Amino acid sequence: MQVIIFDDAQQVAVNAAEWVAELITKKKNPVLGLATGSTPISLYQQLVNKYKAGELSFKNTTSFNLDEYLGIDADNEQSYRHFMNQNLFNHVDINIDNTFLPTCNQGENPREQGLAYEEKIKQANGVDLQILGIGANGHIGFNEPTSSLASRTRIKTLTQQTLNDNSRLFNKDEFQPTLAMTMGIATILDARYVLLMATGESKAQAVKDMVAGPLSAMCPASALQMHENAIILLDKAAASKLEDQEYYHWANNQNIKVNEEFGLYHNY
Ligand code: GLP
Repeated sequence: MQVIIFDDAQQVAVNAAEWVAELITKKKNPVLGLATGSTPISLYQQLVNKYKAGELSFKNTTSFNLDEYLGIDADNEQSYRHFMNQNLFNHVDINIDNTFLPTCNQGENPREQGLAYEEKIKQANGVDLQILGIGANGHIGFNEPTSSLASRTRIKTLTQQTLNDNSRLFNKDEFQPTLAMTMGIATILDARYVLLMATGESKAQAVKDMVAGPLSAMCPASALQMHENAIILLDKAAASKLEDQEYYHWANNQNIKVNEEFGLYHNY
């Protein structure tokens, strides 16, 4: 894992946007894995700004989102499809037909839909760069604690903690789904690079468990310890419970030096 600690959330977003921009400008048909939640919103703003400034085009990009709620339509304002349209897709030149979410409509078999999503990712030649946030309980996508570390796209039942954490986004009289379709942990680990963003004190314990805890289904994000190219972007608050912060800063400076000498090289 490469742990990089920034002074604030804005710097996390700026750095994450550089990763995305590098992939999109260098690769002919880039495949992005996208995430929802409050954390990546500032990343999407950076990307929209870069597009508007003429620095970036999403014309040839395909995207796969991590998850989608079950039981609400795509045009519902609470759907992750709506979130992605509002925060990114409507503001850049991506072909909307090349943007995918793991949906499962009423009457459709969720197991078949999950397998079909896996197949679609394969056909696109896999995800190059997967953006991730992290839940306060260590979930990635909607892989809640106890999720199999070998899981694939499927239905998950949300925990009470996640429902409580996300209830701030729903009005009192609004239906809050308790089920979602989500990429599995093995699906996420298949991405060539994973870029996890975590900001704020409420994520500090989950970050500690992910980086320094044991590999455990009780902290799904700890599975990233098994990934060859996992980059963890943190602000100071999210990093506050990590004991080896000085080491991470030092190691990062060494990486910067190697990049300066030999050039940036990402094997997409
Ligand atoms: C949701 C999403 C996750 C996200 C998490 C944290 O449950 N399914 O992908 O990482 O929330 O969200 P936030 O960034 O709002 O804290």
